[in-house]
Amino acid sequence: MIYLKTEEEIELLREANLVVARTLGEMAKWVAPGITTLKLDSIAEEYIRSQGAVPGFLGYGGYPNTLCISVNENVVHGIPSNYALREGDIVSIDCGAVKDGFNGDSTYTFEVGEVAPEVHKLLQTTKESLYVGIEHALPGNRIGDIGHSIQEYCEKRGYSVVRELTGHGVGRKLHEDPEVPNYGRRGVGALIKNGMVIAIEPMINLGSKNIVIERDGWTCRTKDRKPSAHFEHTIAIHNGKPDILSSFKYVEEVLGDKSI
Ligand code: MF3
Ligand code: CO
Repeated sequence: MIYLKTEEEIELLREANLVVARTLGEMAKWVAPGITTLKLDSIAEEYIRSQGAVPGFLGYGGYPNTLCISVNENVVHGIPSNYALREGDIVSIDCGAVKDGFNGDSTYTFEVGEVAPEVHKLLQTTKESLYVGIEHALPGNRIGDIGHSIQEYCEKRGYSVVRELTGHGVGRKLHEDPEVPNYGRRGVGALIKNGMVIAIEPMINLGSKNIVIERDGWTCRTKDRKPSAHFEHTIAIHNGKPDILSSFKYVEEVLGDKSI
């Protein structure tokens, strides 16, 4: 069941997503060699609460933390720990917040100091593919048009697309219908309509597409242990076009010319 949102609901979703966007901006100030992922998590939790919101992932399906923090070969759902970031790592920070009953959901993959050129290119391509997908989120298109465009963009450049995890509708619940795969065929899937709010979140691997779930029951990592990147925006389709409700503006203000 796909819930179409009113303009008022879309504005509340924007508020929640802007809390997430600003939280990612705070993270950009702290990501550096030596900081533990658990420290990042506690900074994020405190920041979200200071904004009159609550963490969206904490307790969701039993998830234990505010952020999902996935380093290098970890794809998504990494649990914050006492691991200290190292120069050359990449770190995906996936953040959710609930404000006035509506969810925000967005992810940015950060570089820790200098990363290998091929890894930098993976991050750039993954981020670009997110915007390619967003361009295809038009009323009258189908959900498969989004995934097809992301898959084509990434595979043409030699990367692979994770199949097991997808984007999703966003609303009062973090995960609503429809599923939004990052692969697929043109003209297939649910019809995109004004009022739809979805998270698009390409998870793109440097090596093969295969993933495994670690024994903690959450962390997804690449089977071949090569790096994986993840960028996510929550968008609304209204007035005939996609409107990005989350934002990387705050991250990019902090990173300046070091932005991806
Ligand atoms: N951002 C993730 C997603 O879009 C949600 C994290 S899963 C949770 O699916 F269980 F940790 F909340
Ligand atoms: Co999501």
